[in-house]
Amino acid sequence: MNLFIASDHGGFHLKKEIKEYLESKGIMVEDLSPTFDTKDDYPDVAHLLAGNVAKEKKRGILICGTGIAMAITANKTKGIRAAPLLTRAQVLLARLHNDLNVLCLGGLNLKNINTRRLKSKDYKNLLDLGLKPNKLKDVKDLIDIFLETGFEGGRHRRRIGKIEKLYS
Ligand code: RB5
Repeated sequence: MNLFIASDHGGFHLKKEIKEYLESKGIMVEDLSPTFDTKDDYPDVAHLLAGNVAKEKKRGILICGTGIAMAITANKTKGIRAAPLLTRAQVLLARLHNDLNVLCLGGLNLKNINTRRLKSKDYKNLLDLGLKPNKLKDVKDLIDIFLETGFEGGRHRRRIGKIEKLYS
């Protein structure tokens, strides 16, 4: 197993696409939320994945509606550095400087798959409010950078060490 992945119902469709992509690249993925459940709650999913990533010292991908809820929860686990990221530059810098070990993504940020959802009553304003959904190809690029970029270490290791010390 190279990587853990999990989603709540808000990210389930995107998780399926990502799993297929990773498996097509020969990357073994352990799916910690294999069943679609409209009643699931992101804290349970994020806590489970964060525990596995921290224990196994591997990386993980968490997906909910926005990625934000997953990051908020996952960062409560010691040793987890999670962030909801939308651009290649953010992912690159988060790996180089922050040794990001959990990439959080949003199913709502995905173009096409969510067009119907985004136009529904609850979400009618999101596009007007500046949501710029990524194409699946853009999401794949984020994942490639997350997996292929190493940690720069040096002063950044000192800073991560301080987080560990301050919050131990
Ligand atoms: C589910 O629709 C959505 O609320 C959830 O995935 C998460 O993004 C919550 O903040």
